[in-house]
Amino acid sequence: MRWSDRPVWLLPVLATVICVGIGLTVFLGTGGQGRFAAPTAQESGRALIGGPFELVSHEGETVTEADFAGRPMLIYFGFTYCPDVCPMSLQVMAAALDQLEPDARAEFQTLLISVDPERDTPELLAQYVTSEAFPEGLTGLTGSPEQVRRAAEAYRVFYRRSEQDGSMAEYLVDHSSIIYFMDRQGQFVEAFPHATSPAQIARRLQRFLEEEGSGSSA
Ligand code: NI
Repeated sequence: MRWSDRPVWLLPVLATVICVGIGLTVFLGTGGQGRFAAPTAQESGRALIGGPFELVSHEGETVTEADFAGRPMLIYFGFTYCPDVCPMSLQVMAAALDQLEPDARAEFQTLLISVDPERDTPELLAQYVTSEAFPEGLTGLTGSPEQVRRAAEAYRVFYRRSEQDGSMAEYLVDHSSIIYFMDRQGQFVEAFPHATSPAQIARRLQRFLEEEGSGSSA
């Protein structure tokens, strides 16, 4: 089944962002107000976002979701050649975490999963994730095109090489721009669409920790 045939892409909860300098296109539906409405299709009360993955870290190690178990995660799918949308989203992630107290901030694992495995080698990601503007401890993940495809599918992430520019070396990748918030067990908590502010994200993360502390589930 082709990506584009999947009816899930019609859901208004998905924000698809075309990574181009001009004409930044954001499709946000009725979710509105910067608040992401969880998909209605659920199984055993769990949103059908996330799941097992096997990828290669920026340190060149094969990793799976089990390597990150125990920490809540913020996950973003993007690519290092993205001129604007990805760096901006990672800066939003960093700004949100900066609004938390240091010990609260340290709870969260941040991940950048490449949707451009052909160019995003572990070495390139290793360089990229150290940017001062990005979250401290940001881990970059890439892998074979098949590994990346499976991970993106698990997170309902759309990506496609842009064909508007004929140059193979200079291509862009159209992709969803969503920060996924997963709990310590790797279960979906919330998805922050592209327009979500750092303050909104910070409040949600803070509430998650407080609810954990009080014993109620997030
Ligand atoms: Ni991007």
